[in-house]
Amino acid sequence: MDAADDIDTLVSELTRKEKLALVHGAVDPEGTATGYLPGVDRLDVPPFRLVDGPLGVRAEGERATAFPASLATAASFDPSLAREQGRAMAREATALDQDVLLAPGVNIVRIPHCGRNFEYLSEDPVLAGDVGAGLVSGIESTGVLATVKHFVANNQESARTSVSAEVDERTLRELYLPPFRAAVEAGVGSVMTAYNRVNGTYMSDHATLVGGVLKDEWGFDGYVVSDWYGLATTVGAATAGLDLEMPGVALDTETGNEEGSLDEFEWPDGIPDATHAGLFAGPLGEAIDDGTVPAERLDDMVRRVLGGMDRTGLLGRSDVRADGALDTPAHRALAERVATRGTVLLDNDGVLPLTDETAVAVIGPHVDEPKLGGGGSSETTPFAATTPADGIEGRAEGTVTVARGIPEIESVSLFDLLPFVEGGHDEREWTDDDRPDPSLDDAVEAAETADVAVVFVRDTTTEGQDRDSLALPGRQDDLIEAVAAANERTVVVVRSGGPVEMPWRGDVAAVLEAWYPGQADGDAAAAVLYGDADPGGRLPVTFAPAEDYPATEERQFPGVDGKAHYDEGVFVGYRHFDRADTDPTYPFGHGHSYATFEYLDATVRDGAVEVTVENTASRPGHEVVQAYVRPPESPVERPRQELAGFEPVELDAGESRSVSVSLDELALSYFDPDDGWTDDDGPHTVEIGRSARDLRLAVEYSG
Ligand code: GLC
Repeated sequence: MDAADDIDTLVSELTRKEKLALVHGAVDPEGTATGYLPGVDRLDVPPFRLVDGPLGVRAEGERATAFPASLATAASFDPSLAREQGRAMAREATALDQDVLLAPGVNIVRIPHCGRNFEYLSEDPVLAGDVGAGLVSGIESTGVLATVKHFVANNQESARTSVSAEVDERTLRELYLPPFRAAVEAGVGSVMTAYNRVNGTYMSDHATLVGGVLKDEWGFDGYVVSDWYGLATTVGAATAGLDLEMPGVALDTETGNEEGSLDEFEWPDGIPDATHAGLFAGPLGEAIDDGTVPAERLDDMVRRVLGGMDRTGLLGRSDVRADGALDTPAHRALAERVATRGTVLLDNDGVLPLTDETAVAVIGPHVDEPKLGGGGSSETTPFAATTPADGIEGRAEGTVTVARGIPEIESVSLFDLLPFVEGGHDEREWTDDDRPDPSLDDAVEAAETADVAVVFVRDTTTEGQDRDSLALPGRQDDLIEAVAAANERTVVVVRSGGPVEMPWRGDVAAVLEAWYPGQADGDAAAAVLYGDADPGGRLPVTFAPAEDYPATEERQFPGVDGKAHYDEGVFVGYRHFDRADTDPTYPFGHGHSYATFEYLDATVRDGAVEVTVENTASRPGHEVVQAYVRPPESPVERPRQELAGFEPVELDAGESRSVSVSLDELALSYFDPDDGWTDDDGPHTVEIGRSARDLRLAVEYSG
């Protein structure tokens, strides 16, 4: 018999009570899983463990490799690197006795202030889809299930459990749904619905998007899991196509909170009510008994969940699961490689790379802490981590002076908003506490006496809250200005969870965007600063002043009367800046290498664009060849250009190579609510270059 027959047989043998126990979570007796199913001992169905998250495994009380922010992975523009990362994280999940990794997060970066942008991939659906599919493919290649999240239009943290994203179908189809479709096409085992509503209906009740688009239209055959405490109703969810409620049990209302019962607890904005659980327990049984939910729907739910368990080898197919591997040298090296490949060299007047003998001042309030990630369910605690000061002191041959300059920035985390929930990592674990108290004078003096001053700055973002500004928190801008005034060879390394404003950029010699670099923070910074690694990153999101982004009206973000109106439509990110003809601070796709590149002839061949790229420098370098499609005249307003494909390439000094960039159909057509996907007549122009605003060659493309 094949697996499906076995599962059908199993379903027919399960009692009603056993079936219900397979569609809502329970408390993990081992206490490590984020979500847990006890299984059915009578029929040899073992427990099933689900664990966060996109930056590494967050098994309660356990350590694991802390990979960089997902934005860094996306900034590499390298789906095969993402696949390697997905595979490594999944093997660590197996090593920690977990079966499902609740990753990747692929929501489009619509709002630069969104507190979870660090966990997401891009403002562009092709980049988000390709990198997300790489992560999914890597995770699933080990026999661990991936869970793509949060389906769909979860683009802000403000009022995330109630806000309704008011978004038209064309925009959903062209921008917000494609990264999830790419994950389904990559074979993702499960999909997590978002907390929010879309056009008035909670995603967990959304029959059109869950049952209609995801399952019927795209043919998704895995299971759909709620976000935690994110099921709106029993009947609505079951009939819409939800298959599994997580965590399925309410926080213990007596011991869950030292202040006593949670019943009176005022749940902060953006935090789900943790007493709202068990909807797929007794209430689902009652709904089946009274006929509002067909019994066959419960069997389908169980079949899908058992199908997921089977794909992980838990129902006997032991050959599907790769061995676990935790904190191996290969994983540590990979975490560093993702960090360097994701680091974006935004500006460089030639001060970088540093020479071995350069005398360096390392300045910043957090130079003694690794920036592991943002706050919330993605927080991963590594076995080891390097700080910026460690990294440079370990690499430099010249003198190194360290000065914090200003007081530390207060970090925020979702767990700070939930006084009764344990969780989160403590970046201070690695802090060198015998430094003198920070003083601006010390920082200025260190800068004056060094050849080069390197200032490390950071923001702080978390799940559950959006940023209220794109400015660096605290007095970091002042610190940079003071150091730049003391030394014209000042380099700034920004560790942020998304776009930040850089009023000092004209006063410094170089700027690097390192995102949240994870455990390899210091080592990756040193490798890039000294040129041991070429900064491989290109911006997956546009950087610009806050007021220049498209959703600046309150009705758009955070919304009014419970509704966030996506009035900008498809014009998000570079699509918006093109239409507004506004120059961003740094455009989508921007990033320098230490090498320089010439783009030679380009031709269309077999539906792809072939271009010759030459490294004209005397050192090797990373390039990301990008192809944008400009549509012909169209009856609808289309973006001036759309990313259709990209190809990362590493070239030795003087090397030239023909690079083939395949073009994603998504960029070649638009969605018409009446006629579906529609191609415009007439030739499209494909432009090839280094960013959305640095295009070198153009060719006509007629499909
Ligand atoms: C959180 C997040 C989700 C996470 C889940 C379990 O609320 O939205 O990304 O996987 O709950 O921690």
